[in-house]
Amino acid sequence: TCPDIMCLLLPLFDFRGVSMTHFFTDNWENVQNFKARPDDVLIATYPKAGTTWVSYILDLLYFGQTSPERQTSVPIYERVPFLELIVPKFRSVKSGLPTSPRLIKTHFPVQFVPKSFWEQNCKIIYVARNAKDNMVSYFHFDSMAMIEPDPGDWNNYFQRFMQGKVVTGSWYDHVNGWWKKKQTSPNVHYMFYEDLVEDTGREIDKLCSFLGLSPSEDERKRITGGVQFDKMKKNNMTNYSTHARMDFKTGSFMRKGRVGDWKNHFTVAQNEEFDEDYKKKMKDPTLQLRTDL
Ligand code: A3P
Repeated sequence: TCPDIMCLLLPLFDFRGVSMTHFFTDNWENVQNFKARPDDVLIATYPKAGTTWVSYILDLLYFGQTSPERQTSVPIYERVPFLELIVPKFRSVKSGLPTSPRLIKTHFPVQFVPKSFWEQNCKIIYVARNAKDNMVSYFHFDSMAMIEPDPGDWNNYFQRFMQGKVVTGSWYDHVNGWWKKKQTSPNVHYMFYEDLVEDTGREIDKLCSFLGLSPSEDERKRITGGVQFDKMKKNNMTNYSTHARMDFKTGSFMRKGRVGDWKNHFTVAQNEEFDEDYKKKMKDPTLQLRTDL
């Protein structure tokens, strides 16, 4: 369990229909009034769906050539700040980002995104990960992240996740809400974690065509190689080892990076219960997430 008293006392509450803690809602007015610029790129995910991975890919695509010192001295969570997070000592988005384009991440469900991102026609990249692996990853993360409520035991967490009683609310609402938005918004690129694992280069190509970027063949190869799990795990600028609010005694941020790890956690009975519930919540046949490769 989380060693920090802070997370044991951190209450989850319903915020406009979504489970949240105060770290993500205290700055609501400012965040809603955020003034996006047309070239801002927003990375939107349900927590633990591959945010850091895609953040790093984008950072390399935009700044890998022009700003090498950024790669060696600024942790990824500072290069790509967290829109809604308000934790003391953290640089907030409002204090001004050093570069253009600004890469910003959010875990907001689609209806919470500040309107300026839509008005400015910003490019938005959404990453979805299958619910089972997403849940397992989130469970482990909640044990080590001191800004998260204590996860409790696995069985309890399993139930809470299905009920949407975790920070950012229901996974089901999140992936569905963004999927629906993507159908009418050409500025939303919807990606899947499983596709990235299957063929990182192909997904980087798709990202580039969405963003209008054309890296050289060498550059593309370098990025594809540099963002592989083992490389990112060893890289102190991408593995969160410099982050003050993570307890590396209880786990690691770059944990496994696989598709199908849920099989090591779900019991047969849990899997049946999960699948039954999933069918009821995931009615749109066009949205398919792979739990296996
Ligand atoms: P696991 O806990 O399953 O290992 P986020 O960045 O949204 O918090 O997501 C973290 C998850 O993405 C973790 O999953 C982490 O290992 C995985 N991840 C990060 N970089 C990755 C990479 N290069 N390849 C595969 N998975 C990666």
